[in-house]
Amino acid sequence: MKVPLLDLKPQYRALKTELDAAILRVSESQHFILGPEVKTFETGIARHSSCKHGIGLSSGTDALLIALMALDIGAGDEVITSPYTFFATAGTIARVGAKPVFVDIDPDTFNISPAAIERAITSRTRAIMPIHLYGQMADMDPIMEIARKHGLRVIEDAAQAIGSEDAKGRTACSIGDIGCLSFFPTKNLGAFGDAGACVTNDDALAAKMLKLRVHGMEPKYFHELIGGNFRLDEIQAAVLNVKLPHLDSWSESRQRNAAFYDRAFARAGMGGRVVTPPPAPRGARHIYNQYCIRTTRRDELRAYLGANGVGAEIYYPLALHMQQCFAYLGHKPEDFPESLRATRETLALPIFPELEESQLQYVVDTIAAFHRQ
Ligand SMILES: Cc1ncc(COP(=O)(O)O)c(C=O)c1O
Repeated sequence: MKVPLLDLKPQYRALKTELDAAILRVSESQHFILGPEVKTFETGIARHSSCKHGIGLSSGTDALLIALMALDIGAGDEVITSPYTFFATAGTIARVGAKPVFVDIDPDTFNISPAAIERAITSRTRAIMPIHLYGQMADMDPIMEIARKHGLRVIEDAAQAIGSEDAKGRTACSIGDIGCLSFFPTKNLGAFGDAGACVTNDDALAAKMLKLRVHGMEPKYFHELIGGNFRLDEIQAAVLNVKLPHLDSWSESRQRNAAFYDRAFARAGMGGRVVTPPPAPRGARHIYNQYCIRTTRRDELRAYLGANGVGAEIYYPLALHMQQCFAYLGHKPEDFPESLRATRETLALPIFPELEESQLQYVVDTIAAFHRQ
């Protein structure tokens, strides 16, 4: 049996008529930039994130960048984040001229450890950028409390966590100053290419981001700020408008698949021993952009799965504090031991909504067979 890590074709086949019609609609209108599709999507994505404003952008990376720019973060500033994330989180901090200050993760959730944040605060700290990794929200109450106490801004990197909720029912992106989303095709809501958005409840920040998205221009050819070309295009917005109404049911299918794995690992006597499934969300809403297990024989297991037709991926093999481009920060691997351990132990299994139960069972059986060898 073949079980790919991700197959986007079943989703496309199910919505082909509507998706093709949406693209054709834009083709026929010849209105490609900041038209009605982007406007509709911005209203929809703001509502979905329980926020007042949505700003459609060119990618999740640009969403992080524009959020930092809107908060005037730049040279001499420090932003606290975790080194166990996709590169863009810290890459954008460095690109605005600020210093990424890493703190370690909580080993259960893979999210930034609030206890470690306060120790990293200096007189230069301007913001905290928690990541809701794999689809599960970071522990926002203590993060917001620290931010309030020290006068810091909070940018939520929710690229992997659209529509996730914490145990109090608060939606990702609705708690900090600005929330950043990615619609990279592998995300729960994926465009037909690159796309992203910022959402916020702050009127002034929303107005500033709308300007920054078009080179800080308003009115046309008059530039109050230095921004960039960070626009979401009409074709991507049209695709996202077709997909957005289906997002919650896709995330529910991912949750169902995750619950199947959890039960099957427990039944096979592996849960919590040879394989540690992701932590139970404890009343929160995990949207399972990834279902990552921990296992000490990770690389061997990945090779075995591959040889038996199962796709599995490592997110992430090298923590950001050890990336060559951040050598100037002077970190040693052991500076963040939990991040280091996560890079050695985690493995993402197929979790996409359209998987059949027989495929999920095959993944579990293959992992069981590996451990019996
Ligand atoms: C945690 C995180 N932050 C930021 C990004 C950047 O998003 P994009 O690929 O849309 O630029 C991603 C996407 O891969 C991500 O996973």
